[in-house]
Amino acid sequence: MCGIVGYIGHREAYPIVIKGLQRLEYRGYDSAGIALYDGSNLNVCKTKGKVADLKTKSENENITKGSIGIGHTRWATHGVPNDVNSHPHYSNSGNLVIIHNGIIENYDSLRKELISRGYSFKSETDTEVLVNLIEDVQKKENIKLGKAVQIALNQVVGAYAIAVFDKQKPNEIVVARLGSPLAIGIGEEEFFIASDASPFIEFTQKAIYLEDGEMAIIRTGEEVKIRKIQGDKMVDPYVQELQMNLEQIEKGNYDHFMLKEIYEQPRAITDTYRGRMLVDKGIIRMAGVDDNIEKFLNAKRIIVVACGTSWHAGLVAEYIFEEYTRIPVEVEYASEFIYRNPIIYKDDIVIAISQSGETADTMAAIKLAKQNGAFVFGVCNVVGSSISRETHAGAYTHAGPEIGVASTKAFTTQITILSLIALKIAKAKGNISKPDYQHHLSELALIPEKVEKALNSNEHIKQVAEKYMSSANFLYLGRGFNFPVALEGALKLKEISYIHAEGYPAAEMKHGPIALIDEKMPVVVIATKKGHYQKVVSNIEEIKSRKGKIIAIVTEGDENVRNLADYVIEVPDTIEAFTPLLTTIPLQLLSYHIAVMLGKNVDQPRNLAKSVTVE
Ligand code: M6R
Repeated sequence: MCGIVGYIGHREAYPIVIKGLQRLEYRGYDSAGIALYDGSNLNVCKTKGKVADLKTKSENENITKGSIGIGHTRWATHGVPNDVNSHPHYSNSGNLVIIHNGIIENYDSLRKELISRGYSFKSETDTEVLVNLIEDVQKKENIKLGKAVQIALNQVVGAYAIAVFDKQKPNEIVVARLGSPLAIGIGEEEFFIASDASPFIEFTQKAIYLEDGEMAIIRTGEEVKIRKIQGDKMVDPYVQELQMNLEQIEKGNYDHFMLKEIYEQPRAITDTYRGRMLVDKGIIRMAGVDDNIEKFLNAKRIIVVACGTSWHAGLVAEYIFEEYTRIPVEVEYASEFIYRNPIIYKDDIVIAISQSGETADTMAAIKLAKQNGAFVFGVCNVVGSSISRETHAGAYTHAGPEIGVASTKAFTTQITILSLIALKIAKAKGNISKPDYQHHLSELALIPEKVEKALNSNEHIKQVAEKYMSSANFLYLGRGFNFPVALEGALKLKEISYIHAEGYPAAEMKHGPIALIDEKMPVVVIATKKGHYQKVVSNIEEIKSRKGKIIAIVTEGDENVRNLADYVIEVPDTIEAFTPLLTTIPLQLLSYHIAVMLGKNVDQPRNLAKSVTVE
């Protein structure tokens, strides 16, 4: 979490850094800060709150000048969000200034050591310890900044993406990464630094993504010099051509990124299967699976590791894989998996799902699986992300940048990819008949159009939102393939509207949660015609007889449930395994409208960040 931005070149750094921070605000928005060197002074401005607050403050204080600058938007780990704990942080001499995304785990012992040598600290942060450690090394050894950063980093335990500069050498920025992302944009006689490429996309399409354990010295008028932090080996820079465009990272005509991303789903799903699923030829081709097909065919078990919404997509995948491939699947919260000495066999396939590709818990689970000899397959959205590099093989979802903190298009595209993999393996194993397989492909190709239709209920969903926006609790129920959708619907509501919501398997309701039902409790029930329809209808009857309010997600034309429910929201019919791709749409819209009506910050809900790079 936290976003970092930097610029060194011939332009004014201020507008680039501020705009860059606004684009990275999804990574954390507890506080923000900027440091600019104006040719003679190093000026720092920082504040609790959002980048907009920083902009006002720095413009009021006239801190806007300089062609070298760094900025930070923070998700607090060490120390409460206040002005003092905000980044950038100075060293004691006032010469070095640093921004940092990550955690220095041994900061306490380093801090004590530095205090014993006369250093003092203004903030409670681990970052201020790091910048003083660098200064201490630099002074003791009388060496250049790059070398001092390298020596200091070899003493720290933890994760970081940092950018440091020395006001006495204002032609260079030193950056380094371990466990947190860092991209360097290469322009004409200018360089950009950022946690992802979005801050510099309008200036250059060329970027270097630092690998874990690498650092770089970025100097005006020179090539970027990259070396290993440990061992000092020089590394040839690998310059990538970016695929991202400006439109993808801007809100366009939408009020919020979340709404834009909900509406992007037909396109995102199409992009995810485009070129992979050739319906006419009856082929699914995916390099990551094709190259490792024997492993998939011989797998005795699939373990899915993920967090949050990606974990919910993993649960949908469990139903899909077990149904079609007959390979047993276990779905694990990555954070629990790593701490319970799990049994991992060499012929297990571990599928790691992550939109950002940076989630620390998922990353740790991948490392554990690899140590135990399992083959690890990644399903990520962010190209070049840490998880996509750490896994043995994988497939990108092609959803495009997801900026709203609440995951929407990542979920449906993850399910799309996982469905393709399951169908491919089912076919290769002979578990699905040719006509049935072909029918599934044709049906998957129709999903974008059907999502479009589901989106047409937006106005109706707004009315439902208006009716129930003041409820203190919600229950979400679903069965089979749609049980994970109930969990996902509840998560969406919780995270952006702060209303307590719980997802449950519909039939499990009678074992406890039914006690909560009264005339004030809205219950969202996914009751599509496929699967356990009749059983879910019985659950609806049970809720109704306890006076609960029923919002039912039904298949188009269902009059039966309409007669029982307070509100019905229709989605088109499809194969049962693909219903989550449709039933999740009204739940996304419902939570969105409730949050907007309650005046919440939809794209940046409190306490959250888009990519969670701490365990
Ligand atoms: O980037 P990832 O998919 O690994 O992120 C996992 C979760 O942090 C994420 O899905 C989170 O739960 C979202 N805010 C849910 O909307």
